[in-house]
Amino acid sequence: MTTPVNTAPTHTNRLPEGKMPQLRVMPAPHDANVYGDVFGGWIMAQVDIAGSLPATRRANGRVATIAVNSFLFKNPVFVGDLLSFYADIVKVGNTSITVYVEVYAERNRLQANIVKVTEATLTYVATGEDRKPRQLPPLESLISHQ
Ligand SMILES: CC(C)(COP(=O)(O)OP(=O)(O)OC[C@H]1O[C@@H](n2cnc3c(N)ncnc32)[C@H](O)[C@@H]1OP(=O)(O)O)[C@@H](O)C(=O)NCCC(=O)NCCS
Repeated sequence: MTTPVNTAPTHTNRLPEGKMPQLRVMPAPHDANVYGDVFGGWIMAQVDIAGSLPATRRANGRVATIAVNSFLFKNPVFVGDLLSFYADIVKVGNTSITVYVEVYAERNRLQANIVKVTEATLTYVATGEDRKPRQLPPLESLISHQ
């Protein structure tokens, strides 16, 4: 698999065109340290949630995160940034789905001030009720439900 890394400049002044974010969220003071920088662990949790959404749709059911393949905190995130999480499936296996997640911050609530803050690649595994790996359904079986 070729993991897309650093595919876009960090200061773009615009959000990715023609794509819908999976998640938009604004960190609050309790998500930050005493200097006002948002905790990396909080960002990782949101990235995990955002990445799980396309994975869950592709799996047509529950998934579990098996690996964080890469994670780059390219720029700091501040309380009050409006974060947009974009997630794309980059690889599908028998039971696994690998997702590339990019995070952009709109600073000071100004859309003109947009910074790419984070990018990550995570792998999810489709699981059954028994929490064991489950074969992914054929893509064709999902199309009518997407
Ligand atoms: C997810 C889980 C059910 C998978 O079971 P497993 O027996 O470890 O999985 P397998 O070895 O059969 O591998 C399953 C898939 O994951 C892939 N995989 C395994 N290790 C991997 C790794 N380090 N990185 C990327 N993919 C990996 C395998 O290649 C396989 O993919 P494929 O079927 O598409 O070829 C099990 O590992 C688990 O329960 N882990 C804990 C999950 C968890 O609690 N996550 C946090 C909360 S969601």
